[in-house]
Amino acid sequence: MVYTKIIVENSPALRGTVKISGAKNSVLPIIAASLLSYGEVFIDDVPELKDVNVMIELIKFLGAHCTFKNGKLKINVDIKDVEAPYELVKKMRASFLVMGPILAKLGHAKISLPGGCAIGTRPIDLHLKGFQTLGAQIDIGHGYVEARAKRLVGKKVYLDFPSVGATENIMMAAVFADGITTIENAAEEPEVVDLANFLNKMGANIKGAGTDTIRIEGVKELKGTEHTVIPDRIEAGTYMVAAAMTGGDVLIENVIVDHIKPIIAKLTECGIDVFEEGTGVRVKGKRNYKAVDVKTLPYPGFPTDMQAQMMAMMAGAKGTSVIIETVFENRFMHVDELKRMGADIKIEGRTAVVTGIDHLSGAEVKATDLRAGAALILAGLIAEGKTIINDVHHIDRGYVNIEEKLKNLGAIIYRVD
Ligand code: UD1
Repeated sequence: MVYTKIIVENSPALRGTVKISGAKNSVLPIIAASLLSYGEVFIDDVPELKDVNVMIELIKFLGAHCTFKNGKLKINVDIKDVEAPYELVKKMRASFLVMGPILAKLGHAKISLPGGCAIGTRPIDLHLKGFQTLGAQIDIGHGYVEARAKRLVGKKVYLDFPSVGATENIMMAAVFADGITTIENAAEEPEVVDLANFLNKMGANIKGAGTDTIRIEGVKELKGTEHTVIPDRIEAGTYMVAAAMTGGDVLIENVIVDHIKPIIAKLTECGIDVFEEGTGVRVKGKRNYKAVDVKTLPYPGFPTDMQAQMMAMMAGAKGTSVIIETVFENRFMHVDELKRMGADIKIEGRTAVVTGIDHLSGAEVKATDLRAGAALILAGLIAEGKTIINDVHHIDRGYVNIEEKLKNLGAIIYRVD
């Protein structure tokens, strides 16, 4: 077995331009939604990531024909199977997003229960409650969830929490339902809007995506379409923080400024300059930035997927920062790793108190999940000496060519086996 590690050395201020890839969290539900189509689907700006390959593998297993080259994905669907097996679902939680489409198209879906996850128990109760409200019968047993409904019927679904996955899964399930489905307290994330736009291009009738109430009027059939995925706001945020904390000057290209407003606001509060420039933002950092408090919230609040990266930044800030994680119950796995690098962090429940220090020190650490891995790379950029990061497969799930992109900006980063 080959163990790959990423090594990051204390790096100069980052300079140059970095282009942001298509959004992982948009393309995963969009690929799942392609199962609903009766025609050919063409998706552009598809990021070449492990998670994307897992989703492609899964829809192929279910009967789709896919060709994926140079960020362009062509899908023709002829679903044969209603079952998504453990072997495929265990690789990625987002695999559960095929349940809505299969149920909608075939009236029966059997999906392996997604396992626990490093960032909390992450239940699927809201997804199932939605399917049930639309008339599906749900059975759980032998590690599988089975949903059956001859015909789904449009109803009002209220989500106790604006879950991104539940909003997407229910929206997809409802596209062929009789009448009108309303999802209340729906997630407002840009990825939900991108999925709704994609479904509408195929002929769905969805209104209100991006607000807390989404209305889906059932249609008979969906046709093929072409769609370009929105830029990844979390990848953009990660490079913005890298530029900021190294005191760099970086143009982050291919962003939708509206989507990264909460990140711009926090960096500005730290004393960092952020300017809009063409289709990007320029971040001019400084080494002695101020500590700020951060509270993660559903969109348009500060994204939980940027919490770990922001904590890495705060570990080297001037002053003390209070970081509150409200979205996931256990998303501080990176704290112990940052502490190995000398960070001064105390945790009490969902709150972390980070006292910035002048010099982090490079150490051997491990990426406990995707964003935690990104946070360790960021910390490594300003730490003295070498940071050796293990378990980098987590990072490859969600960042396209991260070493190349950082190297092009002047970072000292490389991979060793
Ligand atoms: C998506 C993103 C993930 C991001 C998260 C929150 C994808 C592929 N992943 O994950 O990167 O961190 O949104 O922005 O898009 N919950 C329940 N019951 C449910 C579903 C969720 O209690 O049925 C809870 C979860 O445990 C969690 C919270 O709701 O505490 C948010 O989860 P959710 O928005 O569903 O996240 P995902 O869609 O899994």
